[in-house]
Amino acid sequence: VALTQDDLKKIAAYKAVEHVKSGMVVGLGTGSTAKHAVDRISQLLSQGKLKNIVGVPTSTQTHEQAVSLGIPLSDLDSHPVVDLAIDGADEVDPALNLVKGRGGSLLREKMVESVAKKFIVIVDESKLVKHIGGSRLAMPVEVVQFCWSHSLKRLEELFAHAGCAAQLRKAADGAGGKKPYVTDNNNYIIDLYFEKEIGDLNRASDAVLRLPGIVDHGMFIGLATSVIIAGVDGVTIKTK
Ligand code: A5P
Repeated sequence: VALTQDDLKKIAAYKAVEHVKSGMVVGLGTGSTAKHAVDRISQLLSQGKLKNIVGVPTSTQTHEQAVSLGIPLSDLDSHPVVDLAIDGADEVDPALNLVKGRGGSLLREKMVESVAKKFIVIVDESKLVKHIGGSRLAMPVEVVQFCWSHSLKRLEELFAHAGCAAQLRKAADGAGGKKPYVTDNNNYIIDLYFEKEIGDLNRASDAVLRLPGIVDHGMFIGLATSVIIAGVDGVTIKTK
């Protein structure tokens, strides 16, 4: 039988969880791939194959999943050092730079993953790109709600050289309409779409973070220590 994309996500996730050892503080990622890793950790805990794990969730969604599975949880205030973080990504370039946040989480992910001693990214092969931001899919930016449309224009100006079009992310309002999507941190998301390459990523990142009103962005530059890629022909591991 052919493997589905979800099978590939699960294969990558299970492979990453092999690196979780008893006693570790583990950053629990967010999204459909990371969900499999959290399930697997809970499975190994209940089988007694893992003990004394402390999970640090990267979203309210993952927090809820982990609570429902009975995984002991903490946060960066109590556990500022994370041994290993495992999370999915929307795009991965050859230098292991990532785009994250298409599912809406990015700030808590970045906070947890930037302090992890090891950060393993788990993807199916569809996530591999030559240049991040070049896929014409969204590059998410988390902004404060105050004057978001001003922030949107400033982001478009900043990336004018890359033919940037920006859009406020919307979500269903439950009554057949749309309202702004609100993040776990009570902010909005502006999705950037580029016509051309964005160029130097560190410069782009610094410039975005310098804009008042911007909280963070979905470029995860130099944070991943390895990437596990599940494809129909098997699993590949890339390490920095
Ligand atoms: C959540 O917003 C993200 O940063 C996810 O890590 C990313 O979107 C990958 O999600 P999937 O594993 O569902 O593709």
